[in-house]
Amino acid sequence: MNEITISVKNLSKHFSGVRAVDGISFDVKKGELFGFLGPNGAGKTTTINILCTLMVPTSGRADVNGFNVTDSPTDVRKSIGIIFQDPSLDERLTAYENLNFHGMIYHITSRRRKTRIDEVLNMVGLCPKRDSVVRTFSGGMKRRLEIARGLMHSPKILFLDEPTTGLDPQTRQYIWDYILNLARKEKITVFLTTHYMDEAEICQRVGIMDHGKIVDLDTPDSLKNKYNVSSLNEVFLNVTGRGIREEEANGKESLGTFFRARQKLR
Ligand SMILES: Nc1ncnc2c1ncn2[C@@H]1O[C@H](COP(=O)(O)OP(=O)(O)OP(=O)(O)O)[C@@H](O)[C@H]1O
Ligand SMILES: [Mg+2]
Repeated sequence: MNEITISVKNLSKHFSGVRAVDGISFDVKKGELFGFLGPNGAGKTTTINILCTLMVPTSGRADVNGFNVTDSPTDVRKSIGIIFQDPSLDERLTAYENLNFHGMIYHITSRRRKTRIDEVLNMVGLCPKRDSVVRTFSGGMKRRLEIARGLMHSPKILFLDEPTTGLDPQTRQYIWDYILNLARKEKITVFLTTHYMDEAEICQRVGIMDHGKIVDLDTPDSLKNKYNVSSLNEVFLNVTGRGIREEEANGKESLGTFFRARQKLR
């Protein structure tokens, strides 16, 4: 037991001048529900992108399901499912067509695809929408379809980047029921990022990331005990501070530029 399924050592990713991921190390255990918290721009998506082999690290190493992300990207991809932060469905296709296409990319036989598509649609309660064009779906339905797609090839590890952002409380609850069910029944390891503290609270362990580094990592209860506070939100503010992030500051800057430009026009 306690087998390690994701192993990250001194991992870094630099973009011209930005240390998006700055020498992080952590492990995720098999079957664990592991959460990443962090302010905007902390480096969460960049870390997930490296673990999913969509980006090559600048230095350090990461192994997923026993395969190195740089040396064996195909083996890594076969064992993982990804639900991206940004929507990535083909809106012109039906739910069935989106799933079928994904199944083809993963070389699932046509016979297996037929049964698996019904299984995953059933898991997320979308069977009645099987032949509807995705463009006509609500945000929550699209998110559920993305989760179904991530599960199509029966991955051992599921990466979810902000799976419930922008959804109503009912849909969030619905999606969480699926995630917990999956983790329990299918023994899938779940690695997710979130800005919702109640979601982080459900995770077995939580890593808090800021400025490309992991500033703390433990169970929600141990984190609260360590900082002697009653909520994860307070832990979060304790370790990441109360200042708004660069992106926000840049936003203000451009707003200032906008107002100056408008005054010139007067
Ligand atoms: N392709 C890229 N080129 C240049 N810089 C990038 C690129 N991708 C990310 N960055 C930068 O790397 C940093 C980390 O970004 P990342 O998307 O990983 O943050 P995040 O923690 O996922 O934030 P959010 O909570 O807003 O989704 C940011 O400063 C971002 O601007
Ligand atoms: Mg992100």
